[in-house]
Amino acid sequence: MLFVPFCGYISGEMRKKVAACLAVIALLGQPVTSRPRESQQSLDRRVEALLSQMTVEEKVGQLNQLFYFTKFMKPEMVEPGIREGKIGSLLFLTDPVLINRFQKVAVENSRLKIPLLFGFDVIHGFRTIFPVPLAMASSWDPALVEQVQGVAASEARAVGVHWTFAPMIDIARDPRWGRIVEGAGEDPFLGSRMAAAQVRGFQGPDPASPGHVLACMKHFAGYGAGSGGRDYDSAYIPDAELYNVYLPPFKAAVDAGVGSAMSAYMDLNDVPATGNAFLLRDVLRRQWGFKGFVVSDANAVGNLVTHGFAEDKSDAAYRALTAGVDLEMSIPTDPIANAYATSLAKLVQEGRVTKAQLDEAVRRILEAKFKLGLFDNPYVDESRVASIHNNPEHRRLARVAAQRSMVLLRNEGNLLPLVKGDSKISSVAVIGPLADSKRDIRGSWSFVDDVNSAVTVLEGIRAKVGTSVKVEYAAGVDIGRVYPSMFDIMTGPRPKPWSEPQQRAEFEKAVSFARSSDVVILVLGEHEEMSGEAASKSTIELPGQQLELLKTISGLGKPVVLVLINGRPLEISRAASNISTILEAWHPGTEGGNAVADILYGDATPGGKLPLTWPRSSAQIPIYYAHNITQEPETKKGFTSRYWDIPSSPLYPFGYGLSYTTFSFSNLRVSKPELRVGESTEVLVDVENTGRRAGDEVAQLYIHQRYGSASRPVRELKGFERITLAPGQKRTVRFTLGKAELTYWSAAVKGWVQEPAVFDVWAGADATASLTTTFRVVGAK
Ligand code: BGC
Repeated sequence: MLFVPFCGYISGEMRKKVAACLAVIALLGQPVTSRPRESQQSLDRRVEALLSQMTVEEKVGQLNQLFYFTKFMKPEMVEPGIREGKIGSLLFLTDPVLINRFQKVAVENSRLKIPLLFGFDVIHGFRTIFPVPLAMASSWDPALVEQVQGVAASEARAVGVHWTFAPMIDIARDPRWGRIVEGAGEDPFLGSRMAAAQVRGFQGPDPASPGHVLACMKHFAGYGAGSGGRDYDSAYIPDAELYNVYLPPFKAAVDAGVGSAMSAYMDLNDVPATGNAFLLRDVLRRQWGFKGFVVSDANAVGNLVTHGFAEDKSDAAYRALTAGVDLEMSIPTDPIANAYATSLAKLVQEGRVTKAQLDEAVRRILEAKFKLGLFDNPYVDESRVASIHNNPEHRRLARVAAQRSMVLLRNEGNLLPLVKGDSKISSVAVIGPLADSKRDIRGSWSFVDDVNSAVTVLEGIRAKVGTSVKVEYAAGVDIGRVYPSMFDIMTGPRPKPWSEPQQRAEFEKAVSFARSSDVVILVLGEHEEMSGEAASKSTIELPGQQLELLKTISGLGKPVVLVLINGRPLEISRAASNISTILEAWHPGTEGGNAVADILYGDATPGGKLPLTWPRSSAQIPIYYAHNITQEPETKKGFTSRYWDIPSSPLYPFGYGLSYTTFSFSNLRVSKPELRVGESTEVLVDVENTGRRAGDEVAQLYIHQRYGSASRPVRELKGFERITLAPGQKRTVRFTLGKAELTYWSAAVKGWVQEPAVFDVWAGADATASLTTTFRVVGAK
């Protein structure tokens, strides 16, 4: 049943085939039997029985999670600790043999035989790499995202990973921040839908169900708001913005049943998130009723000392545990690591941490292990890994996901789609440093896949056109970078920068291929490690000599398609006025090159939409659509109140994206023009495909509350639906606006309010939609 929505957008025979194959995936690769879900009472009994047998040291052991880097650690470095019950969880292991080996030590050789919990960052795929999360958010297709994370979960669980450190659901409004690539962009409504979809995908009906894993929402909370877009930097977020913008995706994940949460690295309003009782106790537990466990980010407990918050490691352990961090994640080689392991027992002895406080944390970890079925079924079946990983349906889904994530930004003169067999196009020049890069097509956090199996844009185009078209390729320029990446340790360093003569020769080769071809596909953007963790940048300009290449190629008078491979919006104003056709492909994953070729040649029609506002330049950052209205609104003629020297509008608005067909919106109406506080109204709009091809449109609904106890954003997304329409087909899309959508956290009231007011409503294809109506909310009786 899970896969039925996926089949909804594939027609006829293909739909049946895919449905059948997906049903097979659901069965294949999963342990054959699924345990019936245990009652909470029986679970509690088992947890308490175990807890009562544990020494303080064993309890502390359950709160200790260590990285294990296969490349430079040896089993002997952790096995004694596992045997003595001093390690409760390991992360970064992906070898099933090693996982079983360590698990055996825990369940056969430790005193209480408590299984280990294995975690890993399954962010956008495991063996099969799917589009990066920012790209998946561009699909505006939560059902697809759920399926993708379901497949990612099955591949990870196949090797014995029980727990993913995902979804990353930090709202990000500053594209200089590298981790913008890991989330769903700037908007709390879209972000919440993507958060819930990912939790459902990873965990399935319950994390113990076959082929699923425990999800971990991160980074709680406010990490995306770091000053200057610098990674790990302090965030200052007023309460209203916290509740209305940054927290909703986390609340949505909790409502979707997420099993764990990760505390963030940075200071939030001067209190580090990992020692922040307001976040971890008041909001997470008291306000939201979260029942799972909290893990710290790596070394974040010890780093409470670095932040100038805790006096020493022991104080850090005290502060984190009492604030609500249950499990400490440590990089064992770091001197600030292992704060819990080295201090908690003594803190309990001294009475600074009570036994009840310790037990509370341990109970949550044990409960998660029981719920995951680890006590009954601790090992992984090594013989089944290959069949699960080599399932061709995973790649097929990766291709569909990539197609649906791409955003057509410009198509002046309808150069796209190119037509296979078009006699006017007998040669194509594929140019650019990312055009044939297997590594970069995948995106950050791709560690376990077979990089050689990734399909580049060049390969995708070659496969698409066959031998009938001459395809020539030159990188043209070298991207280069100033600093090494912290992930070089996992993925290996980049080759040395080109020498001067090599640079000249490559540039000339690219220009000459472009000059002699009928169409140029120019593939520019960023290396995969240029976004992601510790990958913030001071500007969003195209790195290296790429702008020069773009200028030269666009000056040749050839038809040029710019394909962007990147994890953040980039400064492309020059391209936006000089290159007729721009496709945002993001880092589209293992099947990315094939998906790009599918879109370029019209075997798939683009339907993705931007999950963020695209700045004209770095100077506009931060820029987002849901800002408050100034006293000189942009709608007022002759005023540009926000900047004097550059337009204050973005290059492309939030929600924007083109298709190969056209759509019109009409007949916007509300079922109830007047409603009482607490009641709901339906909003309906007709969407018609007015072009000559079938295609997808994302119907988007925005509202604005005209007055109230606090100023409200000029527009806020409150509904969306991606639909497929045949040429000439018209459909009515329905949205509901009720208490949930009309309530906000008021800075004046210091609480949640739904207020009597007039509301504007817009429906359309992006955040600048003009079709509008109003409704009024009046006070409750
Ligand atoms: C990141 C987390 C990640 C963890 C484990 C940290 O540096 O901030 O997002 O889950 O490492 O890999």
